[in-house]
Amino acid sequence: MPHANNGNSRFSAFPVSGRSGASLKHTHLNAIFSERDQVGFFEVHAENYMGAGGPPHAALSRVRRDYPVLLHGVCMSIGAPQPLDEAHLARFRSLVERYEPAIVSEHLAWSTHDDVFYNDLLPLPYTNETLRHVCEHIDQVQAAIGRRLLLENPSTYLVFAESDYDETGFIREIVDRTGCGLLLDVNNVFVSATNQGFSALDYLADFPLEHVGEIHLAGHRQQSDDEGEPLLIDSHDGPVCDAVWKLYDIVIGRAGTIPTLVEWDGDIPDWPILKAEADAAQAVLDRHAATGARKIHHAAAE
Ligand SMILES: [Fe+2]
Repeated sequence: MPHANNGNSRFSAFPVSGRSGASLKHTHLNAIFSERDQVGFFEVHAENYMGAGGPPHAALSRVRRDYPVLLHGVCMSIGAPQPLDEAHLARFRSLVERYEPAIVSEHLAWSTHDDVFYNDLLPLPYTNETLRHVCEHIDQVQAAIGRRLLLENPSTYLVFAESDYDETGFIREIVDRTGCGLLLDVNNVFVSATNQGFSALDYLADFPLEHVGEIHLAGHRQQSDDEGEPLLIDSHDGPVCDAVWKLYDIVIGRAGTIPTLVEWDGDIPDWPILKAEADAAQAVLDRHAATGARKIHHAAAE
């Protein structure tokens, strides 16, 4: 993943490889500014910073002086058949230029239809026609921002009968055609697997981990569907569950120490609780980094 820092950057170079981070919430600002090096990075939703100035930008500028910032888009509607909203894309691009994020990402989803904007990230049928739209839109975004975009796997609640690809096959095609990278949300995999009754381990075995530049972890809510079966909602309003931590451990063991974000967007807890989640992810990364170092050492000694 290319880093935005170069010789002309206004910011110090902060590597994010092997680091964990947290969602940036403005209720945490005082706590965050009270001590240095709280986490490896902060991630923000682009749509929260699309005004030209004011307190959100003042706070983010201050955070950016001390931390890498990752920019995560929620509303680009990359999967919609209609053209991307040019004004939205221009605002997204100016955020990339202003904050030089270490990583820029968006969702494999759609949230607009004609001129209606939905609050949810809606799933896509994995057809050849959708693939064409998604790839055109990713090409357009990458050309606008002049760098690689990471695309996030969705959390889903249903499958479309007309799909030509399974999800991992569809994602592989997108990577091959656009050269984009991937953001693997491990909680989304667990939510989708539970809701649709497939194996999260099989999905991960088939996922092109070699293209993953960032990982998301988050909490979800459990409900029951009309038949009394468990239905998981990707709510980002609680701690990461044990099953997702186990899957995460497996992914890091296989793929290496990929920068990892703990997302928390609803029922925001006090900062120490979110920081503890990011610290737990850091402990997994550090353990695997140490094991990897030993492996390298053994290989060198043989
Ligand atoms: Fe996510």
